[in-house]
Amino acid sequence: MSILELKNIYKTYRQGKLEVPVLKDISLNVEEGDYCAIMGPSGSGKTTLMNIIGCLDLPSSGEYYLGGQDVLANNDAKLSDLRLNSIGFVFQSFHLLSRQSALENVVLPLLYAGVSKKERLEIGRKALERVGLGDRTNFKPTQLSGGQCQRVAIARAMVNSPKILLADEPTGALDTASGDQIMEIFHQLNEEGVTIIMITHEQEIADHAHKTFHIRDGQFLVPAADNLANEDISTATNDAITENVYSYSYVEHEFDSAGDFIPKESEAVNNESE
Ligand SMILES: Nc1ncnc2c1ncn2[C@@H]1O[C@H](COP(=O)(O)OP(=O)(O)O)[C@@H](O)[C@H]1O
Ligand SMILES: [Mg+2]
Repeated sequence: MSILELKNIYKTYRQGKLEVPVLKDISLNVEEGDYCAIMGPSGSGKTTLMNIIGCLDLPSSGEYYLGGQDVLANNDAKLSDLRLNSIGFVFQSFHLLSRQSALENVVLPLLYAGVSKKERLEIGRKALERVGLGDRTNFKPTQLSGGQCQRVAIARAMVNSPKILLADEPTGALDTASGDQIMEIFHQLNEEGVTIIMITHEQEIADHAHKTFHIRDGQFLVPAADNLANEDISTATNDAITENVYSYSYVEHEFDSAGDFIPKESEAVNNESE
């Protein structure tokens, strides 16, 4: 079953009067349980594509179906929900909150999902144990190595049990040994059924995936046979180029004196039972 389908996606940035076409007619079909690599040189549009796949940004035109849902028909709030429940993110530079412990970072998505504090801590500890950091729960990111930070980020990405893991150059800032550990964790997650889409410009990293798509100058090079979903080439135009309002990875949060999170008003948390 197709878990994710992009059809004829275009993305053009506007800088003043200048139009910068970045993605040009990208079509991609990802099946549940796939492990895909997207490879391309710097500036080829990889991060732009990842932001669209991750519902962090919208295409200028095209169609996008995630778990059968028409992504572009959703409003911002629904997109946030869809993102929180469907997708885990891992970034090259980890995007951890620097003043918070590993455990506090990991449980952040659970807070948004309205999980009680007791449960959050329990799930968070297990998630850290899974990535081999059960003895580092109270360490701050500055007290962890790069590889350990990325493992904290993976634990955070997976704590809501999303079906899809999106990773943008997950080993780009790491030494080879740490990168290998990250690849081992990805392998295990994929074995458990998690669909992985990983962006990289390193062949050795891409080799861990089962399929590779090559992007150059905003276009896939040679479409793999199963890259194009079907003959449907109709294009629904979507003019809304909006920056997404929130992603837990991009937002700095406030904490009360006990070190618990204070959700922003716009990020209403339901069913919070302490
Ligand atoms: N917000 C933006 N506004 C204008 N141009 C952008 C923006 N983001 C990215 N670009 C341009 O889009 C192209 C692709 O960028 P990006 O997707 O980050 O590439 P990659 O991740 O493959 O290095 C680059 O030429 C970049 O300058
Ligand atoms: Mg990039």
